[in-house]
Amino acid sequence: MSDDSAGAVRISLGTFPTPVESVPRLAAALGIGMDQLWIKRDDLTGLGGGGNKVRKLERIVATALGGGADALVTTGAAQSNHARVTAAAGARPGIPVTLVLAGEPDGAAVGNLLLDGLFGARIRWAGDVGTSALAVLAEEVAADLASAGAHPAIIPFGGSNRDGVLAYADAARELCAQLPGESVSVVALGSGGTMAGLAAELGTRRVLGVHTGAVSDPRAVVAALASMVTSEPIDPRILRLRTDQVGAGYGTLTERAAEAIRLAARTEGIVLDPVYTGRALAGLAAAVRDGDLGSDAPVVFWHTGGLPGLFGHRQAAAVASGAPREEDSRRTASARRAQVPLQD
Ligand SMILES: Cc1ncc(COP(=O)(O)O)c(C=O)c1O
Repeated sequence: MSDDSAGAVRISLGTFPTPVESVPRLAAALGIGMDQLWIKRDDLTGLGGGGNKVRKLERIVATALGGGADALVTTGAAQSNHARVTAAAGARPGIPVTLVLAGEPDGAAVGNLLLDGLFGARIRWAGDVGTSALAVLAEEVAADLASAGAHPAIIPFGGSNRDGVLAYADAARELCAQLPGESVSVVALGSGGTMAGLAAELGTRRVLGVHTGAVSDPRAVVAALASMVTSEPIDPRILRLRTDQVGAGYGTLTERAAEAIRLAARTEGIVLDPVYTGRALAGLAAAVRDGDLGSDAPVVFWHTGGLPGLFGHRQAAAVASGAPREEDSRRTASARRAQVPLQD
């Protein structure tokens, strides 16, 4: 563990700094100047398949261990990247991890679920429930562990607490050292901590969040999280958000996201995921079309990971081969089990 300048404790779980890469062919395809688009490769953070959760968990797990925890409990969707990285993060200090996941076991474990098992996590299926019910079940699981003599720490869904937000304020400082000067960051908004940390450090005008449908009030959620680390509260109204990429809901594949995933793959050999980064790039493309982005300051697209989720998505083959049919709200029971929305 180490103390950083803010006096917070971190453990080393990932590989930092992550690269910032110029992506000229993707820029040109989106209608941005070829030297005006960058990707911050937080998919390459290393631990357990990488992604944004590694940064958050460096602080969150350190706080848990510092408080005497010897077990971790967290929640998420069946294909949660956060749950997968928490499972890997527990393996490092050798402490057991219980994942309370929405849905039910649904055939072979694929994608993130396969990795959860590989990292040795115990999975407790919660059925077709939202975030509040998942949090209640996590408390029950932790109480059971405590009555058996353990000292469990509960990590909130998505790793979005004060530590998680501070981790992305750190990440923003890392970006500024790599790419000095004005730029606008574009990032997927799930549980909100990643955007909150970036906005707290860079300023709200320099961060565009693309809502994925994981929470019901993204503006309020991000403002509350960012305000945990700023000296003055953040006014939710001044956040830059796009809410036009949710489609039929969290976990569903939109045609725009599928197009964005193919575009990144075919111009730059970079793989995005259907739930978060595919939507974020689709939102970036829409912002360029609207004239909201790309004409003045350089744009930084935060690649926050999620590759295992592509392999765990029931429409992965459709993404790769061509235009999938946009999903409607008449999702099947098995689809609901695989990708239950996290919002209540
Ligand atoms: C791949 C990926 N990108 C982005 C996000 C969004 O991050 P946050 O939950 O901090 O909003 C998540 C959250 O699960 C994620 O898994």
